[in-house]
Amino acid sequence: MPATSPIHLVVLFGGRSAEHDISRVSAFNVLRSVDRDRYDVTPIGIERDGTWRRCSDNTANADATAIEIDGDAVNPFDVLKSPGTVVFPVLHGPNGEDGTMQGLLEVVGVPYVGSGVLGSAVSMDKAMAKTVLGAHQIAQPHWRSIQRYQVDQPDFDQMLDAIVDELGEELFVKPANMGSSIGVSKANGATELRSAIDMALNYDDIVIIEEAVTAREIEIAVLGNEELSLGSIGEVRPAADFYDYEDKYSDGVADVVIPAVLSPAIEAAVRETAVAAYRALRAEGLARVDLFVNEDHPEPSRRVMVNEINTLPGFTQISVYPQSWEHAGVSHSDLIDKLVDLALQRHQRMSAHHVDVISTRDDQ
Ligand SMILES: Nc1ncnc2c1ncn2[C@@H]1O[C@H](COP(=O)(O)OP(=O)(O)O)[C@@H](O)[C@H]1O
Ligand SMILES: [Mg+2]
Repeated sequence: MPATSPIHLVVLFGGRSAEHDISRVSAFNVLRSVDRDRYDVTPIGIERDGTWRRCSDNTANADATAIEIDGDAVNPFDVLKSPGTVVFPVLHGPNGEDGTMQGLLEVVGVPYVGSGVLGSAVSMDKAMAKTVLGAHQIAQPHWRSIQRYQVDQPDFDQMLDAIVDELGEELFVKPANMGSSIGVSKANGATELRSAIDMALNYDDIVIIEEAVTAREIEIAVLGNEELSLGSIGEVRPAADFYDYEDKYSDGVADVVIPAVLSPAIEAAVRETAVAAYRALRAEGLARVDLFVNEDHPEPSRRVMVNEINTLPGFTQISVYPQSWEHAGVSHSDLIDKLVDLALQRHQRMSAHHVDVISTRDDQ
């Protein structure tokens, strides 16, 4: 350990998001694992109304599983402006994982864990992410998106029929800008599709409609900025019809198998696809890339498809991202160290970019 003063690590959690509670569980796990000799830790909880509070640390409480948002209200700028600070936004979903918080942190000029504004925003919006993956010829389920204004147009029903014709009767419908399976549902045919769209529109103005694929769900942890490392590959076996909210956060509901049993060729394709998606979507620091794998798919190029990428994946006790590293021999505490180092590296690199104009003329 360097003899210099410890890094001031601000752990942000909660937030104005439907994934507020999950974030409190993720943060609990981070705060419990972080090396207190290396970091001077400040837990900052963000209430649903946006108030920032300096929270008491209840990680020593044996019965607790989530950080409580208590303590005095603080001015965000005062927290972020203190010297030697690195921020770990342990925030999921809108207002945390979508580039908005990253924008604030960029403006303040504080190093932070994870992807920048663009990578966060593009990855959070499933329609944008799919557009970018498509442009990079990365395989994914066939999809369409619709916007709220289209629902009231006279040809909307015809449009739904056309989507069913194109993508098939069995469909997945999701809000573009969410996570944790919130607002996600399965629809069979045009009538169910319509109510599934109405449900998803409660969460966002843009809705994704996808062909339902028959495939295993494979997740892989990626770490790095320029040079990337991959954790052990995980497979989730949903207990329900699909991997829903309950499955994701109630222990013992879904099965998580690490390492996933895959043929060498498929495993190589999973790794290659995950790296391609991470780079295409401009992820940095960390991300979990979720894929659909069907080794028997008649089209070889569709045996491994990307479902989505999460730039601030869950860090709960049963979340795949930290488990995947643990299996690969990286403890939670080492993982946090690596993430903070990557945040500092990225900050240094970005700070080195010229902000003045370099003259290309020879004006002597
Ligand atoms: N096209 C699809 N085919 C089959 N299952 C799907 C499809 N899209 C989503 N699912 C199921 O729904 C779950 C949640 O969808 P996902 O797109 O990952 O949303 P979220 O961002 O909320 O996690 C997936 O983990 C999977 O079980
Ligand atoms: Mg998902």
